[in-house]
Amino acid sequence: MNAQIHDGIPPLFWEEYAEQRWGQYISAIEEKIIRFAHSQLVTPTTALEIGAEGGRWSKLLADLGWRMTCTEIDPVALAVCQQRIPDSRCVLVDLESRDLPCGNNSQDLILAIEVHELVEQSWFVDEVGRVLKDGGIFVGVFQNKHSWRAALNLKSMLQGTMRHYTAGYLPWKRNMMGRGYRFLREEGICWMPFGRRSNSIFVKPATHLEQLLGLRQLTSVSPWIVFAAIKEPARPSDPGASNER
Ligand SMILES: C[S@@+](CC[C@H](N)C(=O)[O-])C[C@H]1O[C@@H](n2cnc3c(N)ncnc32)[C@H](O)[C@@H]1O
Repeated sequence: MNAQIHDGIPPLFWEEYAEQRWGQYISAIEEKIIRFAHSQLVTPTTALEIGAEGGRWSKLLADLGWRMTCTEIDPVALAVCQQRIPDSRCVLVDLESRDLPCGNNSQDLILAIEVHELVEQSWFVDEVGRVLKDGGIFVGVFQNKHSWRAALNLKSMLQGTMRHYTAGYLPWKRNMMGRGYRFLREEGICWMPFGRRSNSIFVKPATHLEQLLGLRQLTSVSPWIVFAAIKEPARPSDPGASNER
């Protein structure tokens, strides 16, 4: 598996991180779960990626036959994404915007990969529920407040300025299940003490150990969780079964 794009365009900010050993480890798990979601959906139709940057994941899906809508707050990254995936609909969004640029029940697949400040927010989950079709899959990455990595941000936590690790995974997951999502795949990652930019030769053995010890199954206390959740069709008697606006 290889999430790197080799098309002559210099790697963007987060793509450079993804090329380091720690980034490769994270990307390989993200890619596995994105490909899993694709395989579950059988026929590629329309998908939305939020925070697509230069489009490494959107390109992967577009090459698999998906018609992509890609959002970004960074116009330079979005221009690269559009260049790499000419058929995609690339939408520049405002950091403060509180809606997704797609119609009700219009997408079979939604990605929010490493857009950490969004996934746990209730407006965002409401919007994913509005846009995702019944039977559609939401793939994302969650930074878990109930993990050792959250403690690294203790100062900003105490000052109330914390932007990452703001919610616990288990309560969030329960909330999602209450909204009718079923979690198909979850992997708890980033247990080992490497920084985001690490290119240490110890990444491989350490992350292998993480796997051997079964830490990836301990999602309630994992630092990051990569998940794929399917939106179950609402039963007619469910309150809010219709999500018409
Ligand atoms: C860590 S990068 C991940 C990029 C890409 N998803 C990937 O995995 O390669 C997060 C990206 O999300 C974008 N972003 C942050 N907040 C956003 C928002 N509200 N809507 C759309 N994009 C956002 C950032 O500009 C950045 O490019």
